[in-house]
Amino acid sequence: MPINVAIDGPAGAGKSTVSKAVAAKLGFIYADTGALYRAVAYAVNSKGIKACDKEKVINELESITPELRFTGGLQHVFVNGEDVSDKIRTSEISMEASAVSAIPEVREFLFGLQKKIARENNIIMDGRDIGTVVLPGADVKIFLTAAAEERAERRYKELSGKPGCPSFEDILSDIKTRDYNDMNRSIAPLRQAEDAVLADTTEMDFQTVVSMVLSIIKEKTGAESIG
Ligand code: DC
Repeated sequence: MPINVAIDGPAGAGKSTVSKAVAAKLGFIYADTGALYRAVAYAVNSKGIKACDKEKVINELESITPELRFTGGLQHVFVNGEDVSDKIRTSEISMEASAVSAIPEVREFLFGLQKKIARENNIIMDGRDIGTVVLPGADVKIFLTAAAEERAERRYKELSGKPGCPSFEDILSDIKTRDYNDMNRSIAPLRQAEDAVLADTTEMDFQTVVSMVLSIIKEKTGAESIG
């Protein structure tokens, strides 16, 4: 049986960078499920459909084939054969992804794909509902969070100096809006699973978080770093 690790938490908590580093250390695959919601948002937006137009989004689903492909453990996201890994990282797609993720039919549509990846691989899978809905039987569940201001600060540092970098205030406001949307939607809202370990990383540096996550996984599954 493959080992499944579920890492959930709010936007900007460092889930993807931490999960990627931990997966590389363990030789596991890292699956970023947010990318699937982003891919759906990208696909509908490119047909001129906004996420708020639920009926149109739902009708569009049958023409969308999202895929996660893994090369050397690294994930690439495809929609209908096109690699959209970079195009889905804009702040507009972030908001649109949060909105499409509140549509039950979209969640249902992506559910089977996420389950299949987990069935076939040793994985670190991150998202919002992995420990609660997608992989309720995961071997390890971690809820990674940090104060909104700290998450905005990290994102600001990551983007500063790049063209079109938003202001700190805009980043913080986007993070708060997404937190609200993700925690208050009626289906699979963001919340900590009862059996998840809570990791508040506000005061921790990256390496400390990675070491902590690795030791939680080792304690629960025996999996050790491969180098
Ligand atoms: O992790 P991210 O920022 O790339 O995710 C984009 C959006 O997708 C996020 O605002 C909420 C949604 N999402 C979700 O509802 N469930 C998941 N498992 C992953 C992401």
